[in-house]
This record gives sequence, structure tokens and C-alpha cells, in this order.
Amino acid sequence: MQLLEEGAITFEIDGAFYNPKMKLNRDICVAMASVLGLGEYIDALSASGIRGMRVARESGVRKVTLNDVSPAAVALIQKNLARNDLNCEATCRNANALMHERHFQAVDLDPFGSPSPFLAAASRSALSYLFITATDTAPLCGAHLKSGVRKYLATPLRTDYHREMGARVLLGLAARELARLDKGMQPLLTHVTDHYVRVYLRVKKGAKAADECLSSMGYLEHCLNCGCFAMREEQRLEGTCHHCKDKTTLAGPLWLGKIHEKDIIRSALQRFDKESRAGRLLEICTAEEDVPFYYDHHSICERLNITPGRIDDVVQLLRESGHRASRTHFCGLGIKTDAPIAEVEEASKAEKTPSRIIKKNLFFAPKT
Ligand SMILES: C[S@@+](CC[C@H](N)C(=O)[O-])C[C@H]1O[C@@H](n2cnc3c(N)ncnc32)[C@H](O)[C@@H]1O
Ligand SMILES: [Zn+2]
Repeated sequence: MQLLEEGAITFEIDGAFYNPKMKLNRDICVAMASVLGLGEYIDALSASGIRGMRVARESGVRKVTLNDVSPAAVALIQKNLARNDLNCEATCRNANALMHERHFQAVDLDPFGSPSPFLAAASRSALSYLFITATDTAPLCGAHLKSGVRKYLATPLRTDYHREMGARVLLGLAARELARLDKGMQPLLTHVTDHYVRVYLRVKKGAKAADECLSSMGYLEHCLNCGCFAMREEQRLEGTCHHCKDKTTLAGPLWLGKIHEKDIIRSALQRFDKESRAGRLLEICTAEEDVPFYYDHHSICERLNITPGRIDDVVQLLRESGHRASRTHFCGLGIKTDAPIAEVEEASKAEKTPSRIIKKNLFFAPKT
């Protein structure tokens, strides 16, 4: 039997699923649970129980439930709880049945692949917060189109900003699942890291909140020729790019509202060393402009046939011309801005200093 340590927990895995690469995801989860001052939390798909145990010990959440459908996993969870002297509830249920029967203040879904099969029950169960991980980035981001449409009832599009596309497809499904139950949502933190999407949602009760939330849903019109994009309220069958006049392609329905609550992320950030991976990720999230999608600096330069300069200088030029502009955690080469593509192109041309270092993307796998 091998004993492992993560955060303040010593545990064994003994055949249950455990992915050490998800430690960052769990570190941030613990910080968010503390900042939100949760009283009750369910790790609905627990495996070894590491996530829920960390939330109980490190965030001080009083009532934590750890659930898994596998009896072997639940036996392991019980052993791990005893080893850590934790008094959490361990249940061996199909998460969907349990979440249909019981309400929890905060519900956390961390499944294999897509959370879609659990979203209806989780939306019913969650009273105040819903946290979701999705590791099926291929359907979410547009690489597996049909599977994306089946799982998320939305048409994704594989573009330069596919990582954010995945986040907004997932947020869009959550918004619609909650709305069916007269609930609305407010995304508190959204991050796409390695090969997963993670969202933290505040759940708001009432038809008004649901209606407001649905008004943040919409479509994205994208030009595959020049990379220009625009948000649309309605679904259109055909469109023309206002920049290059080529035909456009539509993605959606997507969540087009805000994806971060900066004050909450700043409070979570206090719990990390600024140089740690979680610290750097949250720092970028607090600094990124909350506008949908981004331009890829190198793609713009490639189309213009110019050598890319420093992204920070292009961002600065856009700001100086009165636009909102920032880097983004979604992609090391991304520029988030409310400026039209023509101005991003001009700023890229004006910026002549060659990159001394093309900043390696610290959080993500290389662009494929
Ligand atoms: C990816 S693992 C969870 C990892 C864990 N949250 C962590 O941070 O280490 C998914 C778990 O969901 C469980 N599972 C799959 N389907 C389930 C269902 N319908 N109800 C409850 N648990 C389920 C599996 O047995 C597995 O242990
Ligand atoms: Zn175009």
C-alpha cells in the first residue's frame, strides 16, 4: 500500500482514480471554497476522496459529503477519512440519483470526460454554488464537432480561441440547465488549464435570475479567412465578414456574459505564493479583460506577413487608442480586446520591436 500526500491530506489510492496533474485544479478549488465560506459541499464523483477531504481540512467547510458509485472507491474513502481523522459523510450512490434527492449548498462535479450527464441533477441539487470540471476538450473546443453538439447542445468552432470556445460552450449548457429550473448563474472564475475546463458558478434562485442569465446567451460569427469575429443575439444562416467580405461561420449557442468575478479571484489569490502556478494563473485571470474571445497575435502577423513583435506592446498601443486590451490566461499568444480586428492589425504592424523571448505558455499545452 502506497501512501500519498497532497495539501494537508495523507491518503492511499489503492486502484481508485487519482490524477496528480489535477492538483492545481484541487488547490484552486480549496481556495475558492475558503473564500466563498461554504458551509456544505458535495464532491459528487469522489474516487479516492482527495478533493472533498482537502476541502474539509483546508477550507474548513463543516459539512462535506464524498460520493462515488463504486463500492471499492467508497471503502477507500472511508479508510482515507479515518486516516485523516475527518468526520465527513461517505455515500455510495449514483450521483444523479443522490443529487435528484438531496440539495447541497455547493455541488462539485469532477467526472471522467464530460459533466453533461450530471448537469441536470447537479443544477437541481445546487442551492448556491456549482463547480464543474470538463476534461472532454475535443468535443468542447470544436475538434469533435458531432460529439460536441450531442453533449453540449451547441455547435462549437475550432478557431484560434478554441480554448475559450470550450469554456463558453460549457457555461452555455450550465446556464440553460439551471434556467429550466428557474435558476440563474454568475460565473465567479473560469479557467482552461492543461486539458480541462473548470468553472465556478454562483447559483441564483428565481425566474428573473434565469431570464437575465439567458439574455447572456448568443452566437458567434467567425470569419475563417481573416480571423474576424462578432457576437450575435440571433442565429443566422449566412453572414458576410465586414472586414474581408468572405463568408462567415456561426458557433453557438454560447455563454457571452462575464466569466470572472475579479474580487473573488483576488481573495483566492491571497492564499497562494505569487510565484506558484496557481498564483500566476489567478493573477492573469484578475488582469484579463472580461470580453468574449481573443485574437492570436501570431495568426494576425502570419496573415499580414509580418514578423511578430512583443504582444505587450500591441496591448499597450490598443490601450493608448482608448480600447480595453489585455493578455489572457487562455493562451500565451492571445490578445483580449474590444477593438475591431482592423485596429489590432494596425497595432501589430506599428509594433516593430522583434520579440526577444516569445513567452512560453506556462499553463497550457502548446497550440495544436
Ligand atoms: C475523475 S474521477 C474523480 C476524481 C476526483 N474528484 C479527484 O479529484 O481525484 C470520477 C469518479 O466518478 C465515479 N463515477 C462515475 N460515474 C458515477 C456515477 N454515475 N455516480 C457516482 N460516481 C460515479 C467513478 O467511479 C470515479 O471514481
Ligand atoms: Zn474576414
